[in-house]
Amino acid sequence: MKLAVIPGDGIGIEVIEQALRVLDAVVPGVEKTHYDLGAARWHRTGETLPDSVIDELRGQDAILLGAVGDPSVPSGVLERGLLLRLRFELDHHVNLRPAKLYPGVATPLAGEPPIDFVVVREGTEGPYAGNGGTLRKGTPHEIATEVSVNTAFGVERVVRDAFGRAQARPRKHLTLVHKTNVLTNAGDLWFRTVQAVKDEFPDVEVAYNHVDAATIYLVTDPGRYDVIVTDNLFGDILTDLAAAIAGGIGLAASGNLDVSRTNPSMFEPVHGSAPDIAGQGKADPTAAVLSVAMLLEHVGESEAARNVEAAVAADLAARDPKAPGSTAEIGERLAKAAAE
Ligand code: NAD
Ligand code: IPM
Ligand code: MN
Repeated sequence: MKLAVIPGDGIGIEVIEQALRVLDAVVPGVEKTHYDLGAARWHRTGETLPDSVIDELRGQDAILLGAVGDPSVPSGVLERGLLLRLRFELDHHVNLRPAKLYPGVATPLAGEPPIDFVVVREGTEGPYAGNGGTLRKGTPHEIATEVSVNTAFGVERVVRDAFGRAQARPRKHLTLVHKTNVLTNAGDLWFRTVQAVKDEFPDVEVAYNHVDAATIYLVTDPGRYDVIVTDNLFGDILTDLAAAIAGGIGLAASGNLDVSRTNPSMFEPVHGSAPDIAGQGKADPTAAVLSVAMLLEHVGESEAARNVEAAVAADLAARDPKAPGSTAEIGERLAKAAAE
């Protein structure tokens, strides 16, 4: 396996070190290429993501990313110029974000409801497309737009993917989350697309929630969800909430998939570079480790993937949630357990 590693910034660097430790413990001999992209590179050279790097990445089997973003870099430079550019250039149209409450993990929710769903977030369109601009900047008449782009092609492929995932799960339930009552153009396209693709998946039960109501149900009744399909921005917001109810952002993994497999897919924790705790050994590397499990599953190393997930599940069950250990201690425990 040829793996590109982009640790990035802040705790991204810290958690990737531990994730690689776990990877090495279950699949030795992975050919890794490290890319020093992120804030330091930008300060040194002004580059966010050189074209030559994108070309090299296309030849890899997968990409493991930590997180990008740093307070010393203007907001958006690295987020758009590096992370989103990777997702767009490599056509990562399915952003897969599972939310699962593992046994023994504390949730802030009353009554400890079952939580086991996956969010299929569209990854290349929506308000993220960069279709906007600023006019009359700095004047009282400034106009700033971010126009959401939703194409029939883009919506259909992610909706079809979500139906496929729902079909493969025991509950076979899919919820479209959007805002059809206000975003009547994009919402209507998403809604009609779900209705049209549904015929191909007759045993999948379909529901619809407006996104504002979905934030209620995620807190009061998350057990209702099995597969959620939604647009890029709603999916971003809902998956931080999903992480919070399922034990915390330090546990939430994701995959940015080109399901056509034309380009390598990219795996990363849902969280960011967390400048508030960076450099202190406080970051939980579990999300990065679970992202490695998703990566292994994606490249066909299913047994290794299961071993990593089992190591995480056992560690979570045994952990003292108030004192889970340092970044390195957690990584060491997980690597040891995954190798057994
Ligand atoms: P964040 O996810 O970095 O942090 C939010 C909160 O969660 C912070 O209090 C942080 O300490 C905590 N946290 C995050 N990961 C944790 C972990 N593994 N263990 C324990 N606690 C953890 O979000 P933010 O503060 O909004 O953003 C910080 C920077 O990261 C910004 O520059 C943002 O653009 C960027 N960002 C990048 C990504 C990415 O690269 N995928 C994702 C989100 C945010
Ligand atoms: C995430 C992040 C990114 C997003 C940002 C950093 C571009 O929040 O991966 O969830 O909004 O997708
Ligand atoms: Mn996010």
